[in-house]
Amino acid sequence: MSTVPAYSISTESIAKEQARAGSDLAAFDVSNVLGLDELELPAVGPNDVRMKILAVSAEHNIDHATTADTVNIADQRGGKIYPGNSATGEVLEVGANVTKFAPGDIVITHCNGAPDEYGYPTRIWAYDAEDSIGWYAKEAVVGDWQLIKAPLACGLNLWEIAALPLRAPTAYHLWRRGIGIYRLKVPTERKARVNVLGFGGGVSELFLMLAKAEGHRAFFCSGSPERRAALEKHGIQGIDQVAFNRFASRDDVRAFSKECRKRTDGEMMHIVCDMLRGPVFPAGLACTARQAVNLSAGWQLSQKVEYNSTLMSVKQVTIDHVHYETPEGCGAATELYGSVFKPTLHKEIYGWVDLPRAHQEMHLNTQTGIPIVRIADEMPEAVKDLIP
Ligand SMILES: NC(=O)c1ccc[n+]([C@@H]2O[C@H](COP(=O)([O-])OP(=O)(O)OC[C@H]3O[C@@H](n4cnc5c(N)ncnc54)[C@H](OP(=O)(O)O)[C@@H]3O)[C@@H](O)[C@H]2O)c1
Repeated sequence: MSTVPAYSISTESIAKEQARAGSDLAAFDVSNVLGLDELELPAVGPNDVRMKILAVSAEHNIDHATTADTVNIADQRGGKIYPGNSATGEVLEVGANVTKFAPGDIVITHCNGAPDEYGYPTRIWAYDAEDSIGWYAKEAVVGDWQLIKAPLACGLNLWEIAALPLRAPTAYHLWRRGIGIYRLKVPTERKARVNVLGFGGGVSELFLMLAKAEGHRAFFCSGSPERRAALEKHGIQGIDQVAFNRFASRDDVRAFSKECRKRTDGEMMHIVCDMLRGPVFPAGLACTARQAVNLSAGWQLSQKVEYNSTLMSVKQVTIDHVHYETPEGCGAATELYGSVFKPTLHKEIYGWVDLPRAHQEMHLNTQTGIPIVRIADEMPEAVKDLIP
Protein backbone atom coordinates (compact mmCIF):
# COMPACT_ATOMS: atom_id res chain seq x y z
CA MET A 1 0.00 0.00 0.00
CA SER A 2 1.16 3.55 -0.66
CA THR A 3 -0.06 6.99 0.25
CA VAL A 4 -0.51 9.75 -2.35
CA PRO A 5 -1.52 13.44 -2.19
CA ALA A 6 -5.22 13.83 -3.05
CA TYR A 7 -7.98 16.42 -2.66
CA SER A 8 -10.91 15.72 -0.34
CA ILE A 9 -14.18 17.32 0.76
CA SER A 10 -15.18 16.77 4.39
CA THR A 11 -18.32 17.54 6.36
CA GLU A 12 -16.21 19.67 8.75
CA SER A 13 -14.83 21.86 5.95
CA ILE A 14 -18.33 22.28 4.47
CA ALA A 15 -19.80 23.26 7.86
CA LYS A 16 -16.95 25.73 8.52
CA GLU A 17 -17.44 27.47 5.16
CA GLN A 18 -21.24 27.48 5.57
CA ALA A 19 -20.78 29.17 8.94
CA ARG A 20 -18.47 31.78 7.39
CA ALA A 21 -20.51 32.50 4.24
CA GLY A 22 -24.00 32.21 5.72
CA SER A 23 -26.88 31.26 3.45
CA ASP A 24 -25.60 33.34 0.51
CA LEU A 25 -24.22 30.89 -2.07
CA ALA A 26 -22.58 33.78 -3.92
CA ALA A 27 -20.39 34.40 -0.85
CA PHE A 28 -19.48 30.72 -0.55
CA ASP A 29 -15.81 29.98 -1.40
CA VAL A 30 -15.45 26.47 -2.79
CA SER A 31 -11.65 26.66 -2.44
CA ASN A 32 -12.04 26.77 1.34
CA VAL A 33 -13.71 23.36 1.23
CA LEU A 34 -11.72 21.44 -1.37
CA GLY A 35 -8.62 20.62 0.70
CA LEU A 36 -5.29 18.93 0.03
CA ASP A 37 -5.24 15.61 1.87
CA GLU A 38 -3.58 12.19 1.71
CA LEU A 39 -5.06 9.03 0.31
CA GLU A 40 -4.03 5.48 1.03
CA LEU A 41 -4.21 3.55 -2.25
CA PRO A 42 -5.57 0.01 -2.01
CA ALA A 43 -3.42 -2.89 -3.22
CA VAL A 44 -3.83 -3.58 -6.95
CA GLY A 45 -6.40 -6.40 -7.24
CA PRO A 46 -6.50 -8.90 -10.14
CA ASN A 47 -8.86 -6.67 -12.21
CA ASP A 48 -7.34 -3.34 -11.20
CA VAL A 49 -5.06 -0.79 -12.79
CA ARG A 50 -2.77 1.62 -10.94
CA MET A 51 -2.34 4.85 -12.85
CA LYS A 52 -0.53 8.15 -12.61
CA ILE A 53 -2.96 11.02 -13.15
CA LEU A 54 -1.70 13.40 -15.84
CA ALA A 55 -4.56 15.90 -16.16
CA VAL A 56 -8.19 16.29 -15.06
CA SER A 57 -11.06 18.58 -15.89
CA ALA A 58 -13.00 20.55 -13.30
CA GLU A 59 -16.58 19.38 -13.04
CA HIS A 60 -19.66 21.12 -11.73
CA ASN A 61 -20.67 18.29 -9.38
CA ILE A 62 -17.76 19.41 -7.16
CA ASP A 63 -19.72 22.62 -6.68
CA HIS A 64 -22.72 20.58 -5.53
CA ALA A 65 -20.47 18.50 -3.24
CA THR A 66 -18.72 21.49 -1.63
CA THR A 67 -21.74 23.75 -1.21
CA ALA A 68 -24.05 20.81 -0.32
CA ASP A 69 -26.79 22.72 -2.17
CA THR A 70 -28.55 19.57 -3.41
CA VAL A 71 -27.50 16.78 -1.02
CA ASN A 72 -24.59 16.77 1.46
CA ILE A 73 -22.80 13.96 -0.32
CA ALA A 74 -19.73 14.02 1.98
CA ASP A 75 -22.05 13.48 4.93
CA GLN A 76 -23.96 10.70 3.15
CA ARG A 77 -20.68 8.99 2.31
CA GLY A 78 -19.56 8.89 5.95
CA GLY A 79 -18.00 12.34 6.42
CA LYS A 80 -15.53 12.66 3.54
CA ILE A 81 -15.23 12.08 -0.20
CA TYR A 82 -12.23 12.07 -2.51
CA PRO A 83 -13.71 13.76 -5.62
CA GLY A 84 -12.76 13.82 -9.30
CA ASN A 85 -14.55 11.85 -11.99
CA SER A 86 -12.80 12.82 -15.20
CA ALA A 87 -9.12 12.04 -15.69
CA THR A 88 -6.41 11.24 -18.20
CA GLY A 89 -3.64 9.00 -16.85
CA GLU A 90 -0.69 6.72 -17.55
CA VAL A 91 -0.97 3.06 -16.60
CA LEU A 92 1.76 2.11 -14.10
CA GLU A 93 0.76 -1.40 -13.07
CA VAL A 94 -1.97 -3.90 -13.95
CA GLY A 95 -3.54 -6.82 -12.02
CA ALA A 96 -3.13 -10.44 -13.06
CA ASN A 97 -6.44 -10.64 -15.02
CA VAL A 98 -6.09 -7.35 -16.90
CA THR A 99 -5.53 -7.91 -20.62
CA LYS A 100 -6.84 -4.64 -22.13
CA PHE A 101 -4.10 -2.40 -20.71
CA ALA A 102 -0.36 -2.53 -20.12
CA PRO A 103 2.06 -0.25 -18.26
CA GLY A 104 2.78 2.83 -20.36
CA ASP A 105 -0.71 3.03 -21.94
CA ILE A 106 -2.44 6.40 -21.78
CA VAL A 107 -6.03 6.05 -20.63
CA ILE A 108 -9.12 8.07 -19.85
CA THR A 109 -11.75 7.33 -17.24
CA HIS A 110 -15.51 7.29 -17.34
CA CYS A 111 -17.62 7.88 -14.26
CA ASN A 112 -20.41 5.32 -14.61
CA GLY A 113 -20.29 4.10 -11.01
CA ALA A 114 -22.77 1.22 -10.92
CA PRO A 115 -24.50 0.21 -14.16
CA ASP A 116 -28.11 -1.03 -14.02
CA GLU A 117 -29.25 -4.07 -16.04
CA TYR A 118 -29.22 -1.93 -19.22
CA GLY A 119 -25.78 -0.43 -18.57
CA TYR A 120 -26.96 3.00 -17.35
CA PRO A 121 -25.53 4.29 -14.07
CA THR A 122 -27.47 4.10 -10.86
CA ARG A 123 -24.52 5.85 -9.20
CA ILE A 124 -21.72 8.15 -10.30
CA TRP A 125 -18.09 7.33 -9.54
CA ALA A 126 -16.46 9.57 -6.93
CA TYR A 127 -19.85 11.02 -6.07
CA ASP A 128 -22.57 8.71 -4.79
CA ALA A 129 -21.07 5.32 -5.78
CA GLU A 130 -20.29 3.44 -2.59
CA ASP A 131 -16.58 3.30 -1.62
CA SER A 132 -15.60 5.12 -4.84
CA ILE A 133 -12.43 7.19 -4.71
CA GLY A 134 -11.96 9.97 -7.24
CA TRP A 135 -9.12 11.07 -9.42
CA TYR A 136 -8.09 14.47 -8.08
CA ALA A 137 -4.98 12.69 -6.79
CA LYS A 138 -1.44 12.04 -7.95
CA GLU A 139 -2.19 8.34 -8.45
CA ALA A 140 -5.24 6.08 -8.39
CA VAL A 141 -6.18 2.40 -8.32
CA VAL A 142 -9.26 1.68 -10.39
CA GLY A 143 -11.09 -1.32 -11.91
CA ASP A 144 -10.08 -1.87 -15.56
CA TRP A 145 -13.78 -1.67 -16.63
CA GLN A 146 -13.62 2.06 -15.90
CA LEU A 147 -10.82 2.85 -18.32
CA ILE A 148 -10.73 3.50 -22.06
CA LYS A 149 -7.57 3.89 -24.14
CA ALA A 150 -6.99 7.57 -24.89
CA PRO A 151 -7.23 8.30 -28.64
CA LEU A 152 -3.83 9.99 -28.85
CA ALA A 153 -3.88 10.26 -32.66
CA CYS A 154 -7.31 11.97 -32.83
CA GLY A 155 -5.85 15.41 -33.53
CA LEU A 156 -6.61 16.93 -30.12
CA ASN A 157 -3.88 18.02 -27.73
CA LEU A 158 -3.53 16.55 -24.23
CA TRP A 159 -5.58 19.30 -22.54
CA GLU A 160 -8.39 18.93 -25.08
CA ILE A 161 -8.44 15.16 -24.55
CA ALA A 162 -8.55 15.78 -20.77
CA ALA A 163 -11.61 18.01 -21.23
CA LEU A 164 -13.77 15.20 -22.61
CA PRO A 165 -13.95 12.02 -20.47
CA LEU A 166 -17.07 13.12 -18.55
CA ARG A 167 -18.61 15.75 -20.79
CA ALA A 168 -18.37 13.94 -24.17
CA PRO A 169 -20.27 10.79 -23.05
CA THR A 170 -22.92 12.99 -21.44
CA ALA A 171 -23.34 14.99 -24.67
CA TYR A 172 -23.27 11.80 -26.73
CA HIS A 173 -26.04 10.23 -24.70
CA LEU A 174 -28.13 13.42 -24.71
CA TRP A 175 -27.83 13.61 -28.49
CA ARG A 176 -28.66 9.99 -29.24
CA ARG A 177 -31.65 10.27 -26.90
CA GLY A 178 -32.80 13.64 -28.28
CA ILE A 179 -32.62 12.73 -31.96
CA GLY A 180 -33.88 9.19 -31.25
CA ILE A 181 -37.03 10.43 -29.50
CA TYR A 182 -37.61 13.06 -32.17
CA ARG A 183 -37.25 10.46 -34.94
CA LEU A 184 -39.80 8.22 -33.24
CA LYS A 185 -42.29 11.02 -33.84
CA VAL A 186 -41.04 12.63 -37.06
CA PRO A 187 -39.22 10.46 -39.62
CA THR A 188 -36.42 11.88 -41.77
CA GLU A 189 -38.56 12.03 -44.92
CA ARG A 190 -40.93 14.45 -43.12
CA LYS A 191 -38.13 16.64 -41.69
CA ALA A 192 -34.48 15.99 -42.50
CA ARG A 193 -32.77 19.04 -41.03
CA VAL A 194 -33.80 20.01 -37.52
CA ASN A 195 -33.06 23.08 -35.38
CA VAL A 196 -31.08 22.25 -32.24
CA LEU A 197 -30.56 24.62 -29.30
CA GLY A 198 -28.20 24.24 -26.33
CA PHE A 199 -27.86 26.44 -23.21
CA GLY A 200 -24.61 27.24 -21.35
CA GLY A 201 -21.54 25.08 -20.79
CA GLY A 202 -19.23 22.42 -22.10
CA VAL A 203 -21.74 19.58 -22.42
CA SER A 204 -24.10 21.65 -24.58
CA GLU A 205 -21.21 22.76 -26.78
CA LEU A 206 -20.33 19.12 -27.51
CA PHE A 207 -24.00 18.23 -28.00
CA LEU A 208 -24.27 20.97 -30.64
CA MET A 209 -21.10 19.71 -32.38
CA LEU A 210 -22.82 16.33 -32.78
CA ALA A 211 -25.93 17.99 -34.22
CA LYS A 212 -23.87 20.10 -36.60
CA ALA A 213 -21.77 17.11 -37.73
CA GLU A 214 -25.00 15.37 -38.77
CA GLY A 215 -26.08 18.34 -40.87
CA HIS A 216 -28.54 20.04 -38.52
CA ARG A 217 -28.83 23.74 -37.70
CA ALA A 218 -27.31 24.44 -34.27
CA PHE A 219 -27.74 27.40 -31.87
CA PHE A 220 -25.81 28.06 -28.64
CA CYS A 221 -27.45 30.34 -26.05
CA SER A 222 -24.79 31.44 -23.57
CA GLY A 223 -23.87 34.50 -21.55
CA SER A 224 -20.19 34.18 -22.44
CA PRO A 225 -19.01 36.08 -25.56
CA GLU A 226 -15.80 33.98 -25.64
CA ARG A 227 -17.72 30.71 -25.64
CA ARG A 228 -20.17 31.94 -28.28
CA ALA A 229 -17.29 33.11 -30.50
CA ALA A 230 -15.58 29.71 -30.17
CA LEU A 231 -18.76 27.94 -31.30
CA GLU A 232 -19.34 30.36 -34.18
CA LYS A 233 -16.03 29.04 -35.61
CA HIS A 234 -17.71 25.62 -35.86
CA GLY A 235 -20.71 27.10 -37.71
CA ILE A 236 -22.90 27.11 -34.57
CA GLN A 237 -24.89 30.36 -34.17
CA GLY A 238 -24.55 32.16 -30.84
CA ILE A 239 -27.48 33.74 -28.98
CA ASP A 240 -26.59 36.06 -26.11
CA GLN A 241 -28.41 34.87 -22.97
CA VAL A 242 -27.64 38.08 -21.07
CA ALA A 243 -29.50 40.08 -23.74
CA PHE A 244 -32.61 38.28 -22.42
CA ASN A 245 -31.67 38.97 -18.76
CA ARG A 246 -31.13 35.24 -18.28
CA PHE A 247 -34.94 34.89 -18.50
CA ALA A 248 -35.66 36.76 -15.28
CA SER A 249 -39.20 37.70 -16.39
CA ARG A 250 -41.95 36.41 -18.70
CA ASP A 251 -41.25 39.27 -21.09
CA ASP A 252 -37.62 38.10 -21.37
CA VAL A 253 -38.81 34.59 -22.23
CA ARG A 254 -41.25 36.02 -24.80
CA ALA A 255 -38.50 38.12 -26.39
CA PHE A 256 -36.22 35.07 -26.55
CA SER A 257 -38.94 32.97 -28.15
CA LYS A 258 -39.47 35.73 -30.75
CA GLU A 259 -35.74 35.77 -31.49
CA CYS A 260 -35.73 31.98 -31.97
CA ARG A 261 -38.68 32.26 -34.34
CA LYS A 262 -36.76 34.83 -36.39
CA ARG A 263 -33.53 32.82 -36.45
CA THR A 264 -35.30 29.62 -37.53
CA ASP A 265 -37.51 31.22 -40.20
CA GLY A 266 -40.59 30.52 -38.09
CA GLU A 267 -39.84 26.83 -37.50
CA MET A 268 -38.68 27.13 -33.85
CA MET A 269 -36.46 24.52 -32.10
CA HIS A 270 -36.94 20.78 -32.57
CA ILE A 271 -34.41 19.61 -29.98
CA VAL A 272 -33.39 21.65 -26.90
CA CYS A 273 -30.59 20.74 -24.50
CA ASP A 274 -31.36 22.58 -21.25
CA MET A 275 -28.64 21.43 -18.73
CA LEU A 276 -29.39 24.06 -16.10
CA ARG A 277 -33.18 23.99 -15.48
CA GLY A 278 -34.31 26.93 -13.30
CA PRO A 279 -35.14 29.98 -15.47
CA VAL A 280 -33.62 28.27 -18.51
CA PHE A 281 -36.37 25.61 -18.50
CA PRO A 282 -39.39 27.81 -19.42
CA ALA A 283 -37.28 29.57 -22.04
CA GLY A 284 -36.36 26.20 -23.54
CA LEU A 285 -40.01 25.17 -23.67
CA ALA A 286 -41.24 28.50 -25.06
CA CYS A 287 -39.10 28.16 -28.17
CA THR A 288 -40.07 24.57 -29.04
CA ALA A 289 -41.58 23.47 -32.34
CA ARG A 290 -44.37 20.90 -32.48
CA GLN A 291 -43.10 17.37 -31.68
CA ALA A 292 -39.98 18.84 -30.06
CA VAL A 293 -37.79 17.21 -27.42
CA ASN A 294 -36.43 19.06 -24.37
CA LEU A 295 -33.76 17.22 -22.43
CA SER A 296 -31.25 17.79 -19.65
CA ALA A 297 -28.55 15.99 -17.67
CA GLY A 298 -28.14 18.88 -15.21
CA TRP A 299 -30.10 20.80 -12.60
CA GLN A 300 -27.58 23.50 -11.64
CA LEU A 301 -30.17 26.27 -11.26
CA SER A 302 -33.06 24.20 -9.91
CA GLN A 303 -33.96 20.59 -9.16
CA LYS A 304 -37.69 21.20 -9.60
CA VAL A 305 -39.49 22.27 -12.78
CA GLU A 306 -43.06 23.15 -13.59
CA TYR A 307 -44.85 23.10 -16.94
CA ASN A 308 -48.29 23.22 -18.46
CA SER A 309 -49.10 19.62 -19.32
CA THR A 310 -52.00 20.57 -21.59
CA LEU A 311 -49.88 22.87 -23.73
CA MET A 312 -47.06 20.35 -23.97
CA SER A 313 -49.52 17.59 -24.86
CA VAL A 314 -51.15 19.64 -27.59
CA LYS A 315 -47.72 20.40 -29.06
CA GLN A 316 -46.59 16.79 -28.39
CA VAL A 317 -43.40 18.01 -26.71
CA THR A 318 -41.35 15.38 -24.87
CA ILE A 319 -39.46 16.37 -21.71
CA ASP A 320 -36.67 13.91 -21.06
CA HIS A 321 -34.17 13.33 -18.22
CA VAL A 322 -30.65 12.01 -18.74
CA HIS A 323 -28.08 10.94 -16.19
CA TYR A 324 -25.08 9.43 -17.99
CA GLU A 325 -23.94 6.98 -20.69
CA THR A 326 -23.37 3.23 -20.53
CA PRO A 327 -19.69 2.08 -20.51
CA GLU A 328 -20.13 0.99 -24.16
CA GLY A 329 -21.60 4.41 -25.03
CA CYS A 330 -18.59 6.06 -23.37
CA GLY A 331 -16.36 4.04 -25.70
CA ALA A 332 -18.43 5.11 -28.73
CA ALA A 333 -18.24 8.77 -27.66
CA THR A 334 -14.45 8.46 -27.42
CA GLU A 335 -14.31 7.43 -31.10
CA LEU A 336 -15.57 10.93 -31.96
CA TYR A 337 -12.77 12.87 -30.20
CA GLY A 338 -11.16 15.23 -32.69
CA SER A 339 -13.49 14.47 -35.63
CA VAL A 340 -16.67 15.80 -33.95
CA PHE A 341 -15.66 16.84 -30.44
CA LYS A 342 -13.36 19.87 -30.48
CA PRO A 343 -13.75 21.33 -26.99
CA THR A 344 -13.33 24.96 -26.03
CA LEU A 345 -10.87 25.27 -23.14
CA HIS A 346 -10.59 27.93 -20.48
CA LYS A 347 -7.62 30.18 -21.24
CA GLU A 348 -5.60 29.12 -18.16
CA ILE A 349 -4.32 25.56 -17.65
CA TYR A 350 -4.35 25.30 -13.85
CA GLY A 351 -1.58 23.60 -11.83
CA TRP A 352 -2.01 20.98 -9.07
CA VAL A 353 -2.11 23.57 -6.29
CA ASP A 354 -4.63 25.68 -8.23
CA LEU A 355 -7.29 22.93 -8.34
CA PRO A 356 -9.43 24.53 -5.58
CA ARG A 357 -9.19 27.94 -7.31
CA ALA A 358 -10.29 26.34 -10.61
CA HIS A 359 -13.46 25.18 -8.87
CA GLN A 360 -14.04 28.51 -7.17
CA GLU A 361 -13.77 30.23 -10.58
CA MET A 362 -16.29 27.71 -11.91
CA HIS A 363 -18.54 28.60 -8.95
CA LEU A 364 -18.20 32.29 -9.90
CA ASN A 365 -18.89 31.44 -13.58
CA THR A 366 -15.86 33.41 -14.82
CA GLN A 367 -14.30 30.72 -17.01
CA THR A 368 -14.24 31.00 -20.78
CA GLY A 369 -14.23 27.28 -21.57
CA ILE A 370 -13.75 23.86 -19.97
CA PRO A 371 -11.22 24.17 -17.10
CA ILE A 372 -8.24 21.79 -17.15
CA VAL A 373 -5.86 21.04 -14.27
CA ARG A 374 -2.39 19.65 -14.96
CA ILE A 375 -1.71 17.06 -12.23
CA ALA A 376 1.65 15.53 -13.24
CA ASP A 377 4.82 17.63 -13.31
CA GLU A 378 6.69 15.07 -15.37
CA MET A 379 4.78 13.85 -18.45
CA PRO A 380 5.37 10.47 -20.17
CA GLU A 381 7.08 10.39 -23.59
CA ALA A 382 3.78 9.20 -25.20
CA VAL A 383 2.11 12.59 -24.65
CA LYS A 384 5.06 14.99 -24.81
CA ASP A 385 4.21 15.98 -28.41
CA LEU A 386 0.60 16.63 -27.39
CA ILE A 387 1.41 19.41 -24.95
CA PRO A 388 1.03 22.82 -26.60
N1 LIG B 1 -25.43 14.15 -15.61
C1 LIG B 1 -24.21 14.25 -16.06
O1 LIG B 1 -23.58 13.30 -16.40
C2 LIG B 1 -23.60 15.60 -16.19
C3 LIG B 1 -22.37 15.71 -16.81
C4 LIG B 1 -21.80 16.96 -16.96
C5 LIG B 1 -22.45 18.08 -16.45
N2 LIG B 1 -23.64 17.94 -15.81
C6 LIG B 1 -24.33 19.12 -15.27
O2 LIG B 1 -24.72 19.94 -16.34
C7 LIG B 1 -24.57 21.32 -16.03
C8 LIG B 1 -23.68 21.98 -17.05
O3 LIG B 1 -22.42 21.35 -17.03
P1 LIG B 1 -21.28 21.69 -18.06
O4 LIG B 1 -20.11 20.86 -17.70
O5 LIG B 1 -21.81 21.65 -19.44
O6 LIG B 1 -21.06 23.20 -17.75
P2 LIG B 1 -19.75 24.08 -17.62
O7 LIG B 1 -18.87 23.82 -18.79
O8 LIG B 1 -19.21 23.97 -16.26
O9 LIG B 1 -20.44 25.49 -17.79
C9 LIG B 1 -21.52 25.87 -16.96
C10 LIG B 1 -22.30 26.86 -17.72
O10 LIG B 1 -23.42 27.18 -16.93
C11 LIG B 1 -23.86 28.45 -17.29
N3 LIG B 1 -24.32 29.17 -16.10
C12 LIG B 1 -23.70 29.27 -14.94
N4 LIG B 1 -24.45 29.99 -14.08
C13 LIG B 1 -25.53 30.35 -14.76
C14 LIG B 1 -26.69 31.11 -14.44
N5 LIG B 1 -26.85 31.64 -13.24
N6 LIG B 1 -27.64 31.25 -15.37
C15 LIG B 1 -27.49 30.69 -16.58
N7 LIG B 1 -26.41 29.99 -16.94
C16 LIG B 1 -25.46 29.82 -16.04
C17 LIG B 1 -22.69 29.18 -17.85
O11 LIG B 1 -23.08 29.58 -19.13
P3 LIG B 1 -22.97 31.10 -19.64
O12 LIG B 1 -21.97 31.02 -20.72
O13 LIG B 1 -24.34 31.39 -20.12
O14 LIG B 1 -22.54 31.98 -18.49
C18 LIG B 1 -21.57 28.15 -17.92
O15 LIG B 1 -20.93 28.15 -19.16
C19 LIG B 1 -24.02 21.33 -14.61
O16 LIG B 1 -25.08 21.52 -13.73
C20 LIG B 1 -23.42 19.96 -14.40
O17 LIG B 1 -23.45 19.54 -13.07
C21 LIG B 1 -24.23 16.72 -15.69
